[in-house]
Amino acid sequence: PRGLLITIDGPAGAGKSTVAKKLAKKLGYLYLDTGAMYRVVALAAQRLGLDFQDKEKLGELARTLDFKLVPAENGVKVFLGHEDVSEAIRTPEIDRLSSVVARIPSVREALKIRQQAMGKDGGVIAEGRDMGSVVFPDAEIKFFITASLEARAKRRYEEQKQRGLKVSFEEVLSNLRERDERDSKREVAPLVVPEGALVIDTSGLTPDQVLEIVLKEIEKVK
Ligand code: C5P
Repeated sequence: PRGLLITIDGPAGAGKSTVAKKLAKKLGYLYLDTGAMYRVVALAAQRLGLDFQDKEKLGELARTLDFKLVPAENGVKVFLGHEDVSEAIRTPEIDRLSSVVARIPSVREALKIRQQAMGKDGGVIAEGRDMGSVVFPDAEIKFFITASLEARAKRRYEEQKQRGLKVSFEEVLSNLRERDERDSKREVAPLVVPEGALVIDTSGLTPDQVLEIVLKEIEKVK
């Protein structure tokens, strides 16, 4: 039988990808990391030296860019052409630039087409900002995963420190706040709680507690 289509939306650092990866593994579903798509477009644009104001060029780049998301042991590997850019897309600079390209309607449209193609057969955990609201409004199960700004910044800070990035807590906090603003206030597909979504605040929860809540909800629908 066709697997379910499950969407997970929410702000940066709320723990969406942690639960999405665990869930995909548990159910044997495909993990669709749509943030990685915006990130790889931003990385390619930066390397090409494109003007981030040039909507037309950026839209064309998103439509034609040769990139791939390949399922991997812990999540996805991202390839730009033949180059593995999985690490290169997760820097503070690309955090910021990805939310800049994500404001452009033609970029969103191009990526939406790819996302819908990947999700059409079900058996997918689609994670992002507009999965339940715009890309998969008919998804069987929708989650909105959030946490306080402080809690999100703390997690992101620990994560970046562990990866050896030199950042201060204040930088991480203001980077998150700025990105939240841009993602929530943009005109096209802003971050919203999709209709019918279960909202989970992960501030005081461990990843396994979040997974438990999510699995219980899925059991109700199955
Ligand atoms: O989730 P992640 O932090 O990797 O996403 C990077 C950026 O891509 C977000 O800040 C947001 O601007 C954009 N994005 C989006 N819609 C999605 C997924 C990500 O606008 N579905």
